[in-house]
Amino acid sequence: MKVLVTGATGFIGRRLTLELATAGYDVKALCRSTDHPYLIKHRNIEPVLGNILYKQSLARAMDGCAQVYHTAAMAKMWCRNPDEYHETNVTGTRNVLETAGKTGVERMVYTSTCGVWGPTIKHPMTEHDPRITGFPIAYERTKYLAELEVQNFVKQGMQVVTVNPSRVYGEGPVTDSNTVGKMVSGYLKGKWRIIPGNGRQIANYAFLNDVVAGHIAAMNKGITGERYILGGHDISFNDFFTTLQDVSGKQLGMIKVPLNIIELYSRMEWLKTRLTGLSPVFLPEFAERLKYDQKYCSNKAETHLNYNITPFAEGLRKTVEYIRGSKNKDYGIKEKKPGESFNILHHNSENNQINLICHH
Ligand SMILES: NC(=O)c1ccc[n+]([C@@H]2O[C@H](COP(=O)([O-])OP(=O)(O)OC[C@H]3O[C@@H](n4cnc5c(N)ncnc54)[C@H](OP(=O)(O)O)[C@@H]3O)[C@@H](O)[C@H]2O)c1
Repeated sequence: MKVLVTGATGFIGRRLTLELATAGYDVKALCRSTDHPYLIKHRNIEPVLGNILYKQSLARAMDGCAQVYHTAAMAKMWCRNPDEYHETNVTGTRNVLETAGKTGVERMVYTSTCGVWGPTIKHPMTEHDPRITGFPIAYERTKYLAELEVQNFVKQGMQVVTVNPSRVYGEGPVTDSNTVGKMVSGYLKGKWRIIPGNGRQIANYAFLNDVVAGHIAAMNKGITGERYILGGHDISFNDFFTTLQDVSGKQLGMIKVPLNIIELYSRMEWLKTRLTGLSPVFLPEFAERLKYDQKYCSNKAETHLNYNITPFAEGLRKTVEYIRGSKNKDYGIKEKKPGESFNILHHNSENNQINLICHH
């Protein structure tokens, strides 16, 4: 069966692409450049150039596909043009849904996030809980709006299942959105030495392999229109770093930084960005989030999708081994040979046409 994965060069999408290809699916991997370092080379994977903002390229990519996994998103903490969150996450998702409807795609899985619930107060959030705060973070707001787009298409008869991963960690490239990978990699290099506040703030950590298996199970067994939290263990910062010390064998003296200092620092970073245009290290809306827990419950996925949660220490050990040994050793990474050409997409805004440009 032919399937399309959008975001195939991302932290989650590339692993999903590999799992599907290994399972025997013919996978079309949507990418914005055939030279992307995270594109996986596999006999069952066909890279297809495309951009979720250009429907024409999506129609080409979806041609012949029975299923679509839509993981592509603007998932970074910050981007220079804030409109990109809405364009990519909301308009882009609508484009994917519309095109899927027109090209005869039978079923789709949309990758949302537990960020649509955001902070939690007492119990771990389930799919039925309402959000308890506003949406100060553009990423979370636009992912929520994208879920509403999905619901609109479901009402019109499309078969779409939504999955909501929590904070994902695992054996994959340290992209901007792989925040746990950044923490682990920083720690291993001796550069990450801080624990926010008293270290008791809890977040939910989901292992990448579990999340990928959850996507495939959602496609096969999920109920159209339903959402499934794909989470892991609720872990405090203190426990996170204690486990990291254990599994890595590296003992760093960690410094607990009071939240008001982090808040002040984030404001200075915000000002720096406003004045210089340089990207910020941290922003006030994320400093505010450190005051709350983010606990999520995956019972629904465990019951209905046979979702499995890898023990945190085991997942973190694999993550550490991967980051220590990676440096492009990942079996999926395609090395560009000298003189080899590659294609990128160019959008001509005057005639709204997409052209392939060959680079050498
Ligand atoms: N990482 C997490 O902890 C986490 C947690 C919960 C939910 N999620 C969700 O999981 C999904 C994947 O996240 P991730 O961590 O894998 O993100 P990522 O590493 O930042 O990857 C994002 C992917 O989307 C692609 N993309 C962005 N804009 C595009 C566009 N206009 N057209 C085509 N492709 C585009 C990127 O392509 P380029 O490589 O060309 O930029 C990349 O392949 C997202 O929907 C995210 O919201 C992630």
